[in-house]
Amino acid sequence: SHLVVIVPAAGIGKRMKMQQPKQYLMIKNQTILEHTVHRLLSHPNIVKVIIVISPDDDFFATTDLAKLDNVNTVVGGKERVDSVLAGLKSINKEEYPWVLVHDAARPCVSHHDISALIEQCQIANTGGLLATPIRDTIKRSTRLSDQNLVLETVDRDQLWHALTPQMYPTEKLLFAIETALTKNAIITDEASAIEHIGVESLLVEGSSDNLKITRPDDLQLAEYILSKQQQQKFK
Ligand code: CTP
Ligand code: MG
Repeated sequence: SHLVVIVPAAGIGKRMKMQQPKQYLMIKNQTILEHTVHRLLSHPNIVKVIIVISPDDDFFATTDLAKLDNVNTVVGGKERVDSVLAGLKSINKEEYPWVLVHDAARPCVSHHDISALIEQCQIANTGGLLATPIRDTIKRSTRLSDQNLVLETVDRDQLWHALTPQMYPTEKLLFAIETALTKNAIITDEASAIEHIGVESLLVEGSSDNLKITRPDDLQLAEYILSKQQQQKFK
């Protein structure tokens, strides 16, 4: 199968509290975005990556990624979903009937997990996403006071962390996002848009190494995971 991946990379990385957007921070001589895109393009089933960049981005054009034949760019929007939608609109759905979406901020995704997602979605002929089961006990808090008080414990048996990549039929995902947007739904990932049109998604258990670099501490953790993966030749 020859697959295309949309990489939303148009965020500002507010929670990282750095001057540049986090996708342009360096880990071991490469930007986070470069780590992510090289890992995707070296997977045997992935032939093309569409990077969604901010309209204010004046850095991407100076990177080596801009020179690659199998990398295209489009300009993103205000929220992640707007950026993913811009990417989707640039895809020829006859050429690419299925699409993956993968966060620029997740450079540690393994080829093993990408393959598991692709295989399981193809076997079931259903879209889906990588996810990890919740490990900790989960509390819901009251919103009544300025203190955080426990209201109850949430049954974690059916709770998962949603990761990326997420993989769907191109036309279905486009329809789902456009429908969910007109209903003003909160869409934080592809699966949440798909839920809005009542289509099922497969949860494919992946590794928790596939973290989303979000806060300053995550940089060191990602560096450690990338080194570990290189040593194991586990890409
Ligand atoms: N993203 C995007 N367009 C937006 C917002 C986010 O393409 N309007 C991308 C980010 O660049 C990132 C991915 O979506 O690769 C996941 O989003 P998140 O981790 O929230 O990144 P930021 O929005 O940049 O970070 P923050 O929320 O801390 O500002
Ligand atoms: Mg964000």
